[in-house]
Amino acid sequence: MGLMTRRLLLASAAATAASPGPSAAADRPALPIPPELRPDASGSVTLDIRPGTMTFLPGRRTPTYGVNGPFLGPALRVRRGQTVAARVTNALPEDTTLHWHGLIIPGEADGGPHRILRPGQRWEVKLAIDQPAATLWFHPHMYPTTAHLVTKGIAGLLIVDDDETDRLALPSRWGVDDIPVVIQDRRFRPDGSFFERFNIIAVTNGYIGDTVLVNGAIQPEARTARGWLRLRLLNGSNARSYILTTSDARPLFVIGSDGGLLAAPVELKQLPIHAGERFEVMVDARNGVPFDLLTLPVSQPIMRLPPFDQPLKLLTLRPDGADGSGQLPSALATLPPLPVQLPPVSQELVMDMFRDMQGMMPLQKAGLVAMAGGGRIDPAVVARVTDLIVNGKPLGRAEQLSSNGVNGKPFAMHEPGFTAALNQPLRWRIAEGSDRMMHPVHIHGCQFRILSQDGKPPEAHRAGWKDIAPISGGGSSEILVRFPYRAGRDAPYMAHCHILEHEDSGMMAQFTVA
Ligand code: C2O
Ligand code: CU
Ligand code: CU
Repeated sequence: MGLMTRRLLLASAAATAASPGPSAAADRPALPIPPELRPDASGSVTLDIRPGTMTFLPGRRTPTYGVNGPFLGPALRVRRGQTVAARVTNALPEDTTLHWHGLIIPGEADGGPHRILRPGQRWEVKLAIDQPAATLWFHPHMYPTTAHLVTKGIAGLLIVDDDETDRLALPSRWGVDDIPVVIQDRRFRPDGSFFERFNIIAVTNGYIGDTVLVNGAIQPEARTARGWLRLRLLNGSNARSYILTTSDARPLFVIGSDGGLLAAPVELKQLPIHAGERFEVMVDARNGVPFDLLTLPVSQPIMRLPPFDQPLKLLTLRPDGADGSGQLPSALATLPPLPVQLPPVSQELVMDMFRDMQGMMPLQKAGLVAMAGGGRIDPAVVARVTDLIVNGKPLGRAEQLSSNGVNGKPFAMHEPGFTAALNQPLRWRIAEGSDRMMHPVHIHGCQFRILSQDGKPPEAHRAGWKDIAPISGGGSSEILVRFPYRAGRDAPYMAHCHILEHEDSGMMAQFTVA
């Protein structure tokens, strides 16, 4: 009996025994657990980026891309102090790059838009790991096709371990009580292929899927340990934000943000997570009762289209296995205190949308914005908006590339950007220029601290190490950042909105560190 069949049988047996809770699991896929990939004895890892096919929908084949497999990639697992030799090959029929999101490394190792891998090319890069334990990730950063490459399936977790975190005795059995959860939305064409298109809706609102994949499966179910569970959450969606919660109101204890553990757990009932962000969360499953991870409707109107206008089940956790291996500590990591005397603001980054009226007007006309406050969404409105999303006229390349910008200018590959000072605490201000929508802004080469968000201190679970700052429409944040490594003109760092359709249409700036 295959693993899949056995899992499903066990799952349905458990479902009969369980009291009211998540629905029966007979037809639910098991949560795929990406294999851990550790450097071999010589310190090397091999990542092959290649095409594949998957069956997400019964009877329909989806052409995909993946890393060492048909879709997504392994969880690359490295340790602080280690130097890893990564061997990346591009077996795709098109150009790509591979970027280590959240890893603090020199510009030449960063895998940004300038480090292009042509079809058949190999890139050997040394990664000297020197940062706290964290859940990071890798994905392509090819300009202007990152959204396309990620949609096709290139993304994987990159986990940094360290001794300080090992001593905390957090749940650490991979796929048993330490569970990767990669959340991505997609839309399928009738033939099973992924929908992708650069039209005016995409450059303004980002990718709008109608199906959620968790680790590449639709509404899967995970059989886990009975005990404390550690969920490593990655919002790997192109654009979509989620508000995560549990079906039985069991609290989420946030223990880590993008760049590492928090000082202490933060208890939440609802956890908003934006594109590119990660949180590590612990959930008490010592009672063995199954529950669902859900997403609640968010405030952005376009992201409330069905099925996201109701609480939507992403994943069922069925904690009826062996006893868990970890506890929830009351103290986690030591974060350096913020300096009392802050440096003056040395850099401003304003996210600009030059076509927001064109791209958002059709939605306003369709009456969707009026419904943002809640209530039923008229199916006729949905049909019209969906028609715009799916059949809207594709933009020409030039229109695409000049739709968005930073500081008034769209990204330009070969124009030098600004320069940041090496290894000094810097205070940057990031703002949203058009009062239209939230942008999750990401910066390469660092982990930073959010000093303020719209004039207020950041929420407790965003007060630790971050590489993404969510900037609300018309709002701004200040961050304290330090770049310990250099980045030159030929391999600069990027600062950009992590809505991939915004990034691919110009909402990105390059900078050097010297
Ligand atoms: Cu996750 Cu510049 O990227
Ligand atoms: Cu990055
Ligand atoms: Cu954006």
